[in-house]
Amino acid sequence: MNNLRSKKKLFIKSYGCQMNVYDSERIKNLFEVKGFEETLKIDDADLIILNTCHIREKAAEKVYSDIGRINKIKKQEKNIKKNFKLVVAGCVAQAEGQEIIKRSPSVNFIVGPQSYHKLPDMISSDKDIINDDFLQQEKFKNLLFKSSKKVSEFITVQEGCDKFCSFCVVPYTRGSEFSRPVNEILNEINIYCDNGIKEIVLLGQNVNAYHGLNQNCKQVDLAYLINKIAEFDKIKRIRYMTSHPKDMSESLIECHGNNEKLMPFLHLPIQSGSTKVLKKMHRNHDVKKYFEIVDKLKSQRSDIALSSDFIVGFPGENDEDFDQTMKLIDQIKFVIAYSFMYSPRPGTPAANLKQIKLEVKKARLYALQTLLKEQQKSFNKNFVNKGIEVLFDRKGRYKNQYIGRSIYNQSVFIKSEKNLIGLIQKVQVIKSTDFALEARLSE
Ligand code: SAH
Ligand code: SF4
Ligand code: F3S
Repeated sequence: MNNLRSKKKLFIKSYGCQMNVYDSERIKNLFEVKGFEETLKIDDADLIILNTCHIREKAAEKVYSDIGRINKIKKQEKNIKKNFKLVVAGCVAQAEGQEIIKRSPSVNFIVGPQSYHKLPDMISSDKDIINDDFLQQEKFKNLLFKSSKKVSEFITVQEGCDKFCSFCVVPYTRGSEFSRPVNEILNEINIYCDNGIKEIVLLGQNVNAYHGLNQNCKQVDLAYLINKIAEFDKIKRIRYMTSHPKDMSESLIECHGNNEKLMPFLHLPIQSGSTKVLKKMHRNHDVKKYFEIVDKLKSQRSDIALSSDFIVGFPGENDEDFDQTMKLIDQIKFVIAYSFMYSPRPGTPAANLKQIKLEVKKARLYALQTLLKEQQKSFNKNFVNKGIEVLFDRKGRYKNQYIGRSIYNQSVFIKSEKNLIGLIQKVQVIKSTDFALEARLSE
């Protein structure tokens, strides 16, 4: 039976942020040219790659429990002869490579986020089992870029972080800030344009710290890059994430006012509404600065929709600090936000501070999420009976259902006989839910 299988099968699972999703696509492309094709069935795979996330304890532990499940598959009789290889890639691989090998001897290879271009060679030569070098520059030169999507594509333009927030593992797992040269990014976009792409989402751990070189070897910023990308006729929409308030430059803020392709939605995490807590977090900005940025953004683009990340229960956060976070949320009116209980991470300074009780963290998270959900709900409600523009990017679960995004990044569901994928359409909103809009095609 096995002789009938022409191509080897690769199963890859992404945990964590969009940058991992992008990396997984690149890993797939690297293995496609080595004769692999993707399978969504783990027990059909010759090669299993877990592209992992280390941001919170739960994310990291999930990897070990998945390795346990894979070991069980490995032991099943029908799989004994197959002898598939198991790779742990990504941020857990970078942070805990040696420990993974010790805890889980079934793992064959470990590769970090800045050296995964080496993985095909590692597997074929079977010499090095760990590679956790920081090879950002070399990596991008060796990657392959094949568009998998038809409408909206992520592009990593910046990697790593020099900010060292006291709670965060990213500077250790992804290394220092690195920006890809403009030309390299434009060449990648050209490939996607050939495949009919309409929207580009620029990615970076601190994407607005982008400072790549242009054709004349001059250092340029994210606003320059966005304006360059906007010159592509085929690209109709541009977004970027994740931004740091400290790097929200005047030129980028102005770009929101004068570049029509830049969407009026910005993910700008503040983490806490207490300047005292922000200081302890080493965030390098205070609450006042955040409000100033929001005011400037609104003066450029009055309808700009904002989103944020929040951490509750950071060491030293008292009731008053938490109230300040709630007050800030009430004032800014985020249209969506992601919130987490603080998770102490090994090797980060805040992990050594006196920790807050779990019940307190849980209660604060609940209160905060309730408020955020209310805001999101009322933001979406405002659109009912109004006409909006939507870029449709995928089919829904039901017959004739399509899903797209509004300019503010809301999910919009619609029924249509006509295939809408890749089209920007005017639609009439008929209903709003907590998380999305339902619409019909405008006459
Ligand atoms: N570079 C981005 C965030 C990257 S990490 C920024 O500076 O905003 C994504 C989010 O995970 C963070 O915004 C933060 O809210 C959350 N996070 C990071 N470390 C965490 C920890 N130790 N515990 C809980 N949440 C954490
Ligand atoms: Fe982590 Fe802070 Fe860097 Fe964001 S800015 S990746 S939260 S260290
Ligand atoms: Fe996780 Fe690494 Fe992204 S820790 S959030 S996968 S940068």
